[in-house]
Amino acid sequence: MGLILAIESSCDETAAAVVDETLCVRANVVASQHELHREYGGVVPEIASRAHLERIVPVIERALSDSGSGLSEVSGIATGIRPGLIGSLLVGVSAAKGLAWARGLPFHAIDHVAAHLFAGLLRERVDAQQSSTEALFPALGLVVSGGHTSLFVIEGPSECRLVGRTIDDAVGEALDKAASMLGLAHPGGPNLERLAETGDARALRFALPQLHNPLDFSLSGLKTKLLYEVRGVPQGRGASSVFLRTAADLEPARRADLAASFQRAAVAQVIDRIGRAADLYRPRALFVGGGVVANRTLRRELLALATERCLALVVPEPRYCADNAAMIAGYAQLRRRAGDQGDDLATPAEAVSILARGATPKRVQ
Ligand code: KG4
Ligand code: ZN
Repeated sequence: MGLILAIESSCDETAAAVVDETLCVRANVVASQHELHREYGGVVPEIASRAHLERIVPVIERALSDSGSGLSEVSGIATGIRPGLIGSLLVGVSAAKGLAWARGLPFHAIDHVAAHLFAGLLRERVDAQQSSTEALFPALGLVVSGGHTSLFVIEGPSECRLVGRTIDDAVGEALDKAASMLGLAHPGGPNLERLAETGDARALRFALPQLHNPLDFSLSGLKTKLLYEVRGVPQGRGASSVFLRTAADLEPARRADLAASFQRAAVAQVIDRIGRAADLYRPRALFVGGGVVANRTLRRELLALATERCLALVVPEPRYCADNAAMIAGYAQLRRRAGDQGDDLATPAEAVSILARGATPKRVQ
């Protein structure tokens, strides 16, 4: 059996998973650090890497025991090698290299963004057949997370071409900041979604940004508009300007309306960009991934768009949207299917994704 054990530690989740060659997930363990970072309102890199160090071995052991397999049954080790916080990445990458070296196993160095893109191919039925993905290409791919908002044309699992990206904040980052403006705790995205449920999404209108590349994204204008709605227009100039109120001064119903309106605007921008890209590239399928895809409003709109345009929608279960190691193992399995034998143990961890930079490598790691 071609089981791959994968490790993921690029940000604030310590994760390990075991996935077989049919992309069936045998084990998926995620130790989240949200509680460690909450009082700071965002991820503190030094705290994150120390927590990874404490958790990495128990998380790997738990994944192996959940899968019912020992290391002797594993035939490859994969890890997210980039992008991410470098101190965090180094913990998972070092653990993966150590395991691969000690056991003499192939080492798969995986791009986290590419792994998010193909997480929708993961499955949970053990008896499922290995299915071909060829009929799905060419496809569009969208990754929307806390660190990335990128739109790709995908010719195959190793051929992704960047056609649009955010020129300022990632969608998840903007949702997190909007949540913070509204007085919600970290992580903001899911809390904003909860508050938005009781609000009127038409209470505040946001314009769709018109950019030089119509497939690019911009969230900064939305954020400024929300800030002024929540806190009022600042009085005074420059460093001495002050806001006259805080989120706590708003009625609860108004906060819910603003949350719903902001979420609606972010989702509308994502759907608009995919629609434009579908007109241009005539894809057969739409692959989506990243933490924001756990959002129910976005999932509903993606499904409606895919149905309207007869696109196969390849969307992960919510548990495989946010950072996890199953997607890393799954992408390593796809590369292996294409004949990939693994990477050099000297491959370094990197803070930035070559995919997100818009490079068009022949072979995406
Ligand atoms: O993929 P991910 O776990 O980490 C990165 O690679 O960045 O994505 C995390 C992002 C955060 O910004 C988080 O607020 C957002 O995904 N997110 C959500 C939801 N769940 C997570 N945003 C909106 N609605 C959600 N339900
Ligand atoms: Zn991610």
